[in-house]
This record gives sequence, C-alpha cells and structure tokens, in this order.
Amino acid sequence: MDSSMKIPKHVAIIMDGNGRWAKAHKVPRQMGHKAGCETLEQTVEDAARLGIEYLTVYAFSTENWKRSEEEVGALMQLFRFYAKRLLKIATENNIRVKMIGEKSRFAPDLKEAIEKLETLTEENTGLTFVIAVNYGSRDEMIRGVRKIITDVSEGKLNAADVTESTFSSYLDTAGMPDPDLMIRTSGEERLSNFLLWQLAYTEFYFTDIFWPDFNRAELEKAIAYYNGRDRRFGGRNEE
Ligand code: IPE
Ligand code: IPE
Ligand code: MG
Repeated sequence: MDSSMKIPKHVAIIMDGNGRWAKAHKVPRQMGHKAGCETLEQTVEDAARLGIEYLTVYAFSTENWKRSEEEVGALMQLFRFYAKRLLKIATENNIRVKMIGEKSRFAPDLKEAIEKLETLTEENTGLTFVIAVNYGSRDEMIRGVRKIITDVSEGKLNAADVTESTFSSYLDTAGMPDPDLMIRTSGEERLSNFLLWQLAYTEFYFTDIFWPDFNRAELEKAIAYYNGRDRRFGGRNEE
C-alpha cells in the first residue's frame, strides 16, 4: 500500500453476507459463519499490521436472536470456540480485547470466557479489538440513559451537567474514539442498529463482497477510499 496513506485510527465493520456466501457455495449457513470467523481472524492481524488502533466488528445483533434456534445455537458454539482461540491470538499479538453489548443473555460459561478474555488482555498495548455481541445501539443508549438516571437520583451526577461527552461515557464504547471509517460488506447499505451515536461523522464504505471473501486487499481499498474523502466535522476540515 502507498506509504503516504493515512491510516484511520478506528475502523468499524458490519460483517455481513455469511449466509449468502454459503448459499453461493452450496454449503450449510453454518459453514458461512465458520468461514466468516476465519476471515475475521485474518482481518484482526491485518488491522494490527497496518497500524489501526481500534477495530470494532459487529458479530451478533440484539435482533439476531430472531433467527432459527439452530442458527443461534451454531453461532453461540462458534463464539465459545472463538473466545478460546482469540485469547491465544490476542496474547501473541499484544491485542486488547473488549466486548460491547448486553452480556446477561449469554450462557454462564460464555460470560465467563468473555470476562477472562477481557481481563487477561487488559494490559496489552497494541490493537484494541472490540467485538459487538448481543449488541444493539438503541439498547446500548437505553442502558446508558438508565445508568444516568440512577446516578442523578443518587446525587452522583447533576442533570444540568449531562453533556454529549457525559452521554458518550455511559455507553459501552466509553473511552474509545468514534470510528473514522465504517465498512459494510455484502451490498447492504444500512446500519442495522450499529453504533448509531458513534457513527455521526464517520465515512462509510460499502462493498458487494460477502464477508467470508473480505481480505487485506479489500481493507486497503476501503482505506484508500477513506483517504480520498474530504473529512469535515460540520464545517471545519481536519487538521
Ligand atoms: C452476517 O451474515 C453474520 C451475522 C449476522 C451473524 P448473515 O448471516 O447476516 O448473512 P446473510 O446476510 O444472510 O447473507
Ligand atoms: C447485521 O447484519 C448484524 C451483524 C452483521 C452481526 P444482519 O444481516 O443481521 O442485518 P439485517 O437483518 O440485514 O439488517
Ligand atoms: Mg445479513
């Protein structure tokens, strides 16, 4: 890649199209999810090598529970397996792992695995890899609002002092910069309840490629697109 290319600090990805990839290859849907997991593993490594500081991926939405019991079960099994693998990958590559989303709905062993993954990689200083599971932006904002109300009623916070940055600090993404670039694969061009607050000024890149076919060249294409954008934040140009 052109070395003058500016690398976005935070890249967010809606990994879509596993099902259609499986259909195109005449294999069961689950195989699409498995292939998607392998793509994700490679993408995490690519992001770390490129010097991206934050990578946030949408793995399972609050709406995805509506899928068949069979598919949800298969995805949970995949998370279980992946949580273990990820601990190894994160340790070897100095990656800090963080989960965003509502965790109480997961099986106890999965919750424990997530906690272990976060705690054991907390001190790592390389890429911050954020996985959104049982994540919905509206759910995240409602949970945040409830916490704010509790803190106000307990006298820990003044209602008049609630600013945009206060609100941000009550979201699951507290402390993280907003994404600079958002990528969605598989040709769909909607947010599907992903980071609605955080993506206010993010550049969007859409590609028809199904997630299992995404690779480093595709990531670099998205970064090149980002470099061609004139970044504005409501009037002023960056820098
Ligand atoms: C994305 O692929 C993965 C998840 C939502 C878990 P899909 O399963 O949505 O694939 P399509 O959209 O049906 O092709
Ligand atoms: C969004 O994809 C969620 C994830 C990629 C995890 P979906 O495939 O679930 O979204 P819709 O249903 O097409 O909006
Ligand atoms: Mg989909």
